[in-house]
Amino acid sequence: MNQINSLLLLLTVFFFISASSSESTSNGEEDILIRQVVSNNYHDDLIQNAERHFKIFLKKFGKKYADEDEHSYRFSVFKSNLERAKRHQSLDSSAVHGVTQFSDLTPTEFRKSVLGLRSLKLPTDAQQAPILPTNDLPTDFDWRDHGAVTDVKNQGTCGSCWSFSTTGALEGANFLATGKLVSLSEQQLVDCDHECDPAEAGSCDSGCKGGLMNSAFEYTLKAGGLQREEDYPYTGNDRGQCKFDKSKIAASVANFSVVSIDEDQIAANLVKSGPLAVAINAVYMQTYIGGVSCPYICSKNLDHGVLLVGYGSGSYSPIRLKEKPYWIIKNSWGPTWGEKGYYKICRGPSICGVETMVSTVAAVHVNH
Ligand SMILES: *[C@@H]1O[C@H](CO)[C@@H](O)[C@H](O)[C@H]1NC(C)=O
Repeated sequence: MNQINSLLLLLTVFFFISASSSESTSNGEEDILIRQVVSNNYHDDLIQNAERHFKIFLKKFGKKYADEDEHSYRFSVFKSNLERAKRHQSLDSSAVHGVTQFSDLTPTEFRKSVLGLRSLKLPTDAQQAPILPTNDLPTDFDWRDHGAVTDVKNQGTCGSCWSFSTTGALEGANFLATGKLVSLSEQQLVDCDHECDPAEAGSCDSGCKGGLMNSAFEYTLKAGGLQREEDYPYTGNDRGQCKFDKSKIAASVANFSVVSIDEDQIAANLVKSGPLAVAINAVYMQTYIGGVSCPYICSKNLDHGVLLVGYGSGSYSPIRLKEKPYWIIKNSWGPTWGEKGYYKICRGPSICGVETMVSTVAAVHVNH
């Protein structure tokens, strides 16, 4: 873990050195990183050379627009996102914000096309997870080190985040129950799951138009389980019919429950039961490149479903993180986003709502 972190830090430092070569390297790499981010040289360079950075962006992410009008409109959106990245940086100094694959989307387009959490409320009748002892928790923990996490997937331009959060949690639970890591089908949920939240009329899982992890666990429980990813592959749209084949179920839900908002309880449930389905406000994620996101201001409006896979004590780089502990989050925007597809966010209930809607699932102990 620490090795990976140091490596990432080194890579980030290298990136900053190449982005602005005028800084001296005599004060150590960490100092440079801190001064670079604090001084905002990086963002001023982006803004002043927006046209060049737009060209790099287009090439890097293979973007093509229909015509010249669209091209110039996207360039104007890109420029305002450079200003937003700079603003995010000043509110969130322990992370790095800049150009991402979503830099040509307006905040509204971003919310519509790559998020997809439908309801902000937890079902009122949801089963509560039992309170667990918290005295012997490890200081650092990451389910990736224990083989319980599949590779980072990509939801594309479809508001299906909820289905990825759901499969991620069940993949982990199924690994704990059977010892096998099997990638599970989001498309089955997108096509077949129309489960509604009993507490809120009209709030139903609706493919690319959004859904809720707890409803998806309920669907999976009723349907009997989920197929493998390879047997029911992801298409990134919700125009197809349900093709669920009961004879090909690869993992089944035994039960699911809501975890207390207490952060030690969240950590204890994570360690005991596997990765957790969590909701978050994703506004900083549009510009996130790496580091620990710990914004001064962040809405608690939940609009994105993700997977909590671990936590860190933050002690590897005390100056930069001020020893702030953080959660490790698996996202569903492909491995090119964030830290190889992952997001780090500091712990605390007021940080983008990350601790307010957490669910755990248990899988049936059967090898399908
Ligand atoms: C959930 O299912 C698991 C696995 O079958 C079982 O060990 C656990 O006791 C169940 N939890 C609840 C709260 O029913």
